[in-house]
Amino acid sequence: MSVHDQIAEAQTAAVVSIDQADDLESLTDLESSLFGKKSQLGGLKRLMGEVAPEERAGVGQALNEAQRIVREAHAVAKERFLSVTRRAELETERLDLSESVEATARGHLHLVTQTMERLEDVFVGMGFTVSEGPQAETDWYNFEALNLPAAHPARSMFDTLYLDLGDRTEIGDGEGGEATNILLRTHTSPVQIRVMETLPPPIYTVCPGRVFRRDTADASHMPVFHQIEGLVVDHGISLADLAGTLNEFTAAYFGGAIRSRLRPSYFPFTEPSAEFDITCVICEGDGCQTCQRTGWIELGGCGMVHPNVLGNCGIDSEEWTGFAFGFGIDRLALMRYGIKDLRDMYTNDIRFLRQF
Ligand code: DAH
Repeated sequence: MSVHDQIAEAQTAAVVSIDQADDLESLTDLESSLFGKKSQLGGLKRLMGEVAPEERAGVGQALNEAQRIVREAHAVAKERFLSVTRRAELETERLDLSESVEATARGHLHLVTQTMERLEDVFVGMGFTVSEGPQAETDWYNFEALNLPAAHPARSMFDTLYLDLGDRTEIGDGEGGEATNILLRTHTSPVQIRVMETLPPPIYTVCPGRVFRRDTADASHMPVFHQIEGLVVDHGISLADLAGTLNEFTAAYFGGAIRSRLRPSYFPFTEPSAEFDITCVICEGDGCQTCQRTGWIELGGCGMVHPNVLGNCGIDSEEWTGFAFGFGIDRLALMRYGIKDLRDMYTNDIRFLRQF
């Protein structure tokens, strides 16, 4: 038999033995007989000395090629056994996480948070952005910049909670940088100021958030509650835009049967100012106990942004005009679900919360 035939035979024998191995262990046992010095192919190397010098290169190449083929067949077989083992391991170590998620009772967002998120969605759908501001505010943002200077009679509309910061008055940043009172914001209107200070018009934004007043909790008041503020500043904005926006919003949030209307009112930060009512969501305008038989319920305040307020934020009121509005979120949720007592929202009785 020629050397080349012997090489071919050794290669075939090696590949057949690899094919016959039926698990990783028997493949490993084969390794010394495939690659060791005593392997058939390894033994053939010793023949090199007996080969005629001019044939040596050809025989060397044939040996290398045979070895490469055997190595490759071995690697392929090994990978196949390993992946079978891995799959088996994964199967035994598998954790069914869905089971524990289903088994545990899951909570959900609080009614007020749900309402706030739905309101945001409706306004975002109308092209508004959402802005936020701090809950602890300075006198400047909560009052002064909103055209409510110290001792303005309208300050009594807000029962303000002031923070006692000891001698840390340096936190204040009243106009001119002097120390000022820090308070818990009584409404979301200070966020208007922060937005106008930082963004150039046109502005279309809503500012939802928590507000605080020195009120005793009763069926319709809480010392902590939530409001959403709207602010638009652009060229040529008029009261008609305000009325149209509120009407659109009301229909989008409550459904087509609910309309809105404006009634003249007074706020220092708007001129003219109005209060806006919506069709009673309980009786849809027929008159019931909730709306005291008027068919309307009061929702919030609004108006055209006062030129002083625009000026306080560095916006030229000759060039730009705007409107703003604000209303209570808790009260809205209360009316929508016919809840009788606002306090129920915050006593965290799970039987109550679970309903929404
Ligand atoms: N901030 C007012 C309040 O809490 C509500 C309000 C009235 C907001 C008129 C406005 C507005 O933006 O224009 O009672």
